[in-house]
Amino acid sequence: MPTVDIHTHIYPPAYISLLKARTTIPYIRTYPTSPTPRLVILPGEDSDSAAHGTPGRPIGPEYWDVNAKLAFMDAHNIGISVLSLANPWLDFLPADEAAAATLTVNDDIEAVCAAHPGRLFAFGALPLSAPAEQIVAEIQRLQTLPHMRGVIIGTTGLGSGLDDPALEPVWEALEATQTLVFLHPHYGLPSEVYGERGGEYGHVLPLALGFPLETTIAVARMVLSGVWDRWRGLKVLLAHSGGTLPFLAGRIESCIAHDGYLKSVGRGVEGRRSVWEILRENVYLDAVVYSPVGLKAAVDASGRDRVLFGTDHPFFPPLDDEEEWLSVKMNSDAIQKAFGEDKESADMVLGGNAIRILRLQEDADK
Ligand code: URA
Ligand code: ZN
Repeated sequence: MPTVDIHTHIYPPAYISLLKARTTIPYIRTYPTSPTPRLVILPGEDSDSAAHGTPGRPIGPEYWDVNAKLAFMDAHNIGISVLSLANPWLDFLPADEAAAATLTVNDDIEAVCAAHPGRLFAFGALPLSAPAEQIVAEIQRLQTLPHMRGVIIGTTGLGSGLDDPALEPVWEALEATQTLVFLHPHYGLPSEVYGERGGEYGHVLPLALGFPLETTIAVARMVLSGVWDRWRGLKVLLAHSGGTLPFLAGRIESCIAHDGYLKSVGRGVEGRRSVWEILRENVYLDAVVYSPVGLKAAVDASGRDRVLFGTDHPFFPPLDDEEEWLSVKMNSDAIQKAFGEDKESADMVLGGNAIRILRLQEDADK
């Protein structure tokens, strides 16, 4: 049974050109202090508060070249990868450019997958800054691309978050087509929460804490606004084992149960699906959590049949030149440690679940 990586990103060449032409985040540029071009994508990472070291991260072929992806897969014994466009996707495009650019990127990624049968599948991108009918049209068009197995989105939705009523036609189309949504963070938390010295700590606070909390808050807002009650058939894969959702689900439930305002307006616990139900019926969790403690929480919350191995490649490369990536090893070790002698469960998380849920062993050209 092949190992399947369901959390692995790529910026196709057309997207790289788009970033090179930009001067505000997100962009790619060189600096006098850095011989290789730098990818600057996270909010505020080019500002004075983050000015310790050169902004962003070095970007090389591992971000755009499918051969580098395949070499990484081979080096780590990964049989199949489900590629997704990396953050911030196409969120920043003007409304009138988004649909055409998304179509180009999705077709590029589809072509890359088609060139490597059996090894590559993908989650498509959506033109989220475009009018809802154009987003829905792309959801429907993706159904016709043989290697697409869902869509990747960030937490901002159309600009106002995933509790925005204007997203209803999008949820409707995602549910009707049974499109899996890979929900991935990008925007983090406001930089003030990291304090005056936050800029001295590299990317640790935004990536270790901002990203997972962003995901957790987005899902909690979907809970509070009733998205999961209206669209009971939604299927959502949460990045980074759900942020902190498995750990905080009980607290979210308790806060809802004790909220006098929500009760007074008829939006308390009665008639509402619980976070636990949503975690078991709608949510899938990746296994990108780097420790058996977090992984066991993910399995406890969603079930061993809903947790899926991932790497987050090409992010978190080794700082020196080791061939084996520490970030991959930490996630593989977490699976081995969490399951111990239970090889069947480990195999499910390493690949069996992805093959079943994403239909990866069906002939892509059928
Ligand atoms: N940093 C990012 O910007 N994106 C990821 O997916 C991981 C790390
Ligand atoms: Zn990622």
